[in-house]
Amino acid sequence: MGRDVIIACDFPNAEETLSFLAKLGDERPYLKIGMELFNAEGPAIVKKLKDRGHRIFLVLKLHDIPNTVGRAMKVLDGLDVDMCNVHAAGAKAMMRAASDNFRGTLLGVTQLTSTSEEVMRSEILIERTMKEVVAEYGINCKAAGLNGVVCSPLEAAAIHERCGHDFLTVTPGIRLEGDAAGDQKRITTPSQAKELGSDYIVVGRSITAADDPLTAYRKCRKEFIG
Ligand code: C5P
Repeated sequence: MGRDVIIACDFPNAEETLSFLAKLGDERPYLKIGMELFNAEGPAIVKKLKDRGHRIFLVLKLHDIPNTVGRAMKVLDGLDVDMCNVHAAGAKAMMRAASDNFRGTLLGVTQLTSTSEEVMRSEILIERTMKEVVAEYGINCKAAGLNGVVCSPLEAAAIHERCGHDFLTVTPGIRLEGDAAGDQKRITTPSQAKELGSDYIVVGRSITAADDPLTAYRKCRKEFIG
């Protein structure tokens, strides 16, 4: 599987999503549908975007008891999305229930890229380094049958080292040079993400809030894929 750029469609409804996509002309990028858009429009938005030729990463970050997650994943499997995710903090039995019920690429969220190591220690109460936590979570994800993790590009090498090079690192927290970080803490540019070994980058505001989203998307692709 080659590297690719995934655009985070963090929009409140289908109308705004489609008017954003119209700015991309004939491009059919890989899209992230997250909880904002999915909760507003439901499965119909997945079908609509798939029918237009987009691949879909459905980001609902499930985290519940194994039985509930397994049953929910079975429903999401019916939507025929390419990629989906669960929280690795749900632990191995929950992740196993998810992977047993989903045929696409399944990822574990390690630590959100908006979480700093300081907050992880003081509020999430994990007294380890971010790198150690992400790598250990990656090992749990692999043991539970997942295909990869969501992490920061800053941790991609540690994941590949511990879990192998076929184990995917899908990395948000990406900013084009000069763009505002906003709420993100562990960020890199697309070219740094490439150097650090990310397999996919998830880019939201650097593309969706750009004056010219098509140019921003192409810039991300050029930096990340070449
Ligand atoms: O706008 P921005 O590029 O910061 O968007 C990043 C996207 O990646 C958002 O849709 C966010 O929900 C998602 N994400 C993240 N950190 C994770 C998992 C997903 O930022 N660990």
